[in-house]
Amino acid sequence: MPFFRYRSLDEIVAEVERLGLSEQIKFADKVNELLKPLKVGERKIWNSLGYHPMEGCDGTSDGRPSALTWRRYERFASGGGALIWFEATAVTPEGRANPRQLCLTDETAKDFEALLNMVRKVHKEVFGEERILCGLQLTHSGRYCFEKPVIAYHDPALDKKRGIPPDYPVISDDELDRLQDAFVQAAKLAWKIGFDFVDIKQCHRYLLNELLAAKTRKGKYGGSLENRTRFAREVIQRIRDETDGKLMIATRLNAYDGPAFDSTGKPMEYPRPFLYGFGCDENDPLAMDLSEPVQWAKELVQLGVKLINVTMGNPYASPHIGRPFDKPPIDGYEPPEHPLVGVARHFTATAAIKQAVGSQAAVVGTGYSFLRQFLALAGEANKRAGLVDIVAVGRGAIAYPDYVRDLLQHGQLLVNKVCLAVSFCTALMRTKEHPLKQAPTGCVPRDPLYAEIYRRLGLTKRH
Ligand SMILES: Cc1cc2nc3c(=O)[nH]c(=O)nc-3n(C[C@H](O)[C@H](O)[C@H](O)COP(=O)(O)O)c2cc1C
Repeated sequence: MPFFRYRSLDEIVAEVERLGLSEQIKFADKVNELLKPLKVGERKIWNSLGYHPMEGCDGTSDGRPSALTWRRYERFASGGGALIWFEATAVTPEGRANPRQLCLTDETAKDFEALLNMVRKVHKEVFGEERILCGLQLTHSGRYCFEKPVIAYHDPALDKKRGIPPDYPVISDDELDRLQDAFVQAAKLAWKIGFDFVDIKQCHRYLLNELLAAKTRKGKYGGSLENRTRFAREVIQRIRDETDGKLMIATRLNAYDGPAFDSTGKPMEYPRPFLYGFGCDENDPLAMDLSEPVQWAKELVQLGVKLINVTMGNPYASPHIGRPFDKPPIDGYEPPEHPLVGVARHFTATAAIKQAVGSQAAVVGTGYSFLRQFLALAGEANKRAGLVDIVAVGRGAIAYPDYVRDLLQHGQLLVNKVCLAVSFCTALMRTKEHPLKQAPTGCVPRDPLYAEIYRRLGLTKRH
């Protein structure tokens, strides 16, 4: 029985009440504020809706966008969302999470430029004016690098999940210093190409997020909050200096990591105090303690960050936290909580960060896709209450790229186009049936192209 079986707003409101989440999840009666223009830094964009970074695992083997990547961004460009957050792009070839992840280097820069120019052109053709904000997510995948994991410290549960032995070497301070250069170099390239902003990615337990939780690491990148945030701080300062403050800097930030979960959906054993997660209550890591994320967000705006995209969880160890779902991914588990509890957790964390940074930065909210046709009404309520500035969708972006156009045209989202949160997109990313141990990903229920890839891989029978 799926969790989501609400045919009307009244039904989902009743469920929210039954779960005791009425304080966290509210719905407006119609969408209005989200469709108004908004200023982000010095830029004015035409609405407060957007697309989260969504990898398609479809780059070329040397990290350039492919025809499928172009197709995805063309759909976003004509879909109406004003914020287009280009997907995870590695700053070095070794930092890629999969063999088809994009990678920005001198050699691939021209291909990114062409992709970006296409997005701006298509948007202008469809909407008459170009009033969007396009940014690129810069990443190093850390322990999730597909060639060779790079770990900042030993995390017992995450090491176990990935089969990392206790004597596996930890990246040194010198190597981290050098890696800063790669982020700065990639940011300058992105600026040259014409991106409006770069995202220094600190989420989903990739390297910079792992560093935020490096409480057990020795040396200048571990221990105190000041040390754990050093890498991102120095990178941001250097990008600011080397672009004369002209490139907007954003960050996608995990406000809460949570503990790792096993294949049955139970938290893996953890020590107390729990020293392996950012934003976690050390005595009960299943609960958030947002004091450090709030403190860091306040510092980020002092450093000049103008856009903070709040997210959480680890897609490999706690997928239900990051993307509340109805049906688990093939490497996942049945949700250990009602997905609306997960949505409420996202809204709570985003509101706390928004409250901390005030008008100094625009805050983007995550975790909306589970709400299907009601997501924009929840976003509108959050926006009206000042709990978020921009509402973006992740899975909803690939299921329903033209969701903003429909909102403009029909005043609501169409039930037969929304994301179903059934994790087929993740199944494609992680399938062992493909020679590359992954397939290009997109929305299986809503996009025939991916339904066909899914069928051809024989996944229909398994999932
Ligand atoms: C197929 C797929 C690709 C994703 N790619 C990225 C990515 O490149 N960068 C990132 O920060 N998050 C990525 N995410 C996470 C989403 O951006 C988003 O945080 C998550 O799906 C929850 O939002 P939603 O409820 O709107 O889907 C990805 C998620 C999926 C399912």
